[in-house]
Amino acid sequence: MTDDAFRMGLVGTGIIARRHIESMAELKQRGLDDFVLAAVCDMNEEALNEAAALAEDLLGQRPATYADYREMLDEETLDGADLCLPHGLHHTASIDCMDAGVHVLCEKPLGITIKASRLMAEAADRTGSVLSVAVPQRRLPGMRMVQWVLNESGLMGNPLTFFHTMVRPPRPRRSDGPLPYAAQWRRDRLMSGGGPTMDGGFHWCDGMRFLMGEVDTVYARAIETSEGEVRSLPDAREDTLFSVFTFKNGLTGTWSWSFAAPGEGFQKVLFYGSEGSLSTDISHAIFHLYWRTSEWTETGLLTQRDGTQFTFDELMPRYKDALSEEQWQLLFPNELMNGFGYEIWEFIEAVRGNRDSVEVDAWDGLKSLAVCEAVYESAVSGEVVKVDDVISGKVDAYQAPINEHWGIK
Ligand SMILES: NC(=O)c1ccc[n+]([C@@H]2O[C@H](COP(=O)([O-])OP(=O)(O)OC[C@H]3O[C@@H](n4cnc5c(N)ncnc54)[C@H](O)[C@@H]3O)[C@@H](O)[C@H]2O)c1
Repeated sequence: MTDDAFRMGLVGTGIIARRHIESMAELKQRGLDDFVLAAVCDMNEEALNEAAALAEDLLGQRPATYADYREMLDEETLDGADLCLPHGLHHTASIDCMDAGVHVLCEKPLGITIKASRLMAEAADRTGSVLSVAVPQRRLPGMRMVQWVLNESGLMGNPLTFFHTMVRPPRPRRSDGPLPYAAQWRRDRLMSGGGPTMDGGFHWCDGMRFLMGEVDTVYARAIETSEGEVRSLPDAREDTLFSVFTFKNGLTGTWSWSFAAPGEGFQKVLFYGSEGSLSTDISHAIFHLYWRTSEWTETGLLTQRDGTQFTFDELMPRYKDALSEEQWQLLFPNELMNGFGYEIWEFIEAVRGNRDSVEVDAWDGLKSLAVCEAVYESAVSGEVVKVDDVISGKVDAYQAPINEHWGIK
């Protein structure tokens, strides 16, 4: 580590922050190590001390601890802040950081609404800051390989349609005690912005833009069935979704799921091109399509029109061969296969000027959020919604009460 090592502050030390610290440790193990986690911040003392201890254990240095990120900004000289906060706090915390001269890596889904996200993107432009959206999913080797298979390999012809479905029985609560903080804020729309569609679902919406291009329209029915009857948005929190997407390139597909269907479940993710299909039996939530790190966590099969088949393990070396060594090193520096580690390293490199930009900047993240919001806007209005109308603010009935709560004009 050099004397001018990148100084990072981590704000919000809950569930996902642990993955961030572990991923920082993997970066160091891989020799991507010219940074220091200088400070951690959380209003919850227990979570704060646990994070400081984990950092000391894994990174070899105990960070300074703060209960208030504004105090951290006053006291510390930081290059970047890694924000792992509930969604309703993303816009104020990131804008405060950027105004203090600190670049920001912000957890998905960027802001709590499109207007909040726009404020963030404008602040990044105004202050000349890097504002990167922490979305590890599209940075995983599995997603990158599938993006190549669908769009560049020539193995499937032109992408045409997709059918992504997962139906699961409800999971019983682990304990009878009070809901943990992370579950509480997720159930409060004024703090979360929405349910699974924009929480884990942000990964799917962002991933589909990455795989298939820009979404044109969305039609969605989002309902809650766990209480034994069908309840609709906005008076419910969706546990079940039926939705149809059209893309600007003419592609059409469906995304349907339920986490509340007792009895038999089923799941399948299928893409069709003019010359074949790509199928995946997902072993995890439908939001994380190709959760490959160094090992596959799902199996996949490309089947061509004549019946020729390729497994994912056969496709990966072809993908690697299709990239130059330089491209491979840019996407998987020092063989890093960890999306969290990648987003942190890419952020540091972009702030240092070693990369022109980050892969998902604020304006790009806003577009992915707009796909999630289009689902909600359609579910509330019953109409087909154009994503561009969500981006421009022409359609915002679902988001309006959330903006009002946070005083966002
Ligand atoms: N990339 C992924 O796969 C992934 C997975 C889970 C969560 N996330 C994202 O990470 C973010 C955090 O989610 P989580 O599951 O870790 O939530 P969490 O509730 O476990 O953690 C949030 C932490 O923020 C702290 N906090 C709240 N208000 C604060 C404030 N004003 N100042 C300082 N600390 C404050 C809380 O005490 C808590 O420890 C969200 O944006 C979420 O969408 C991403």
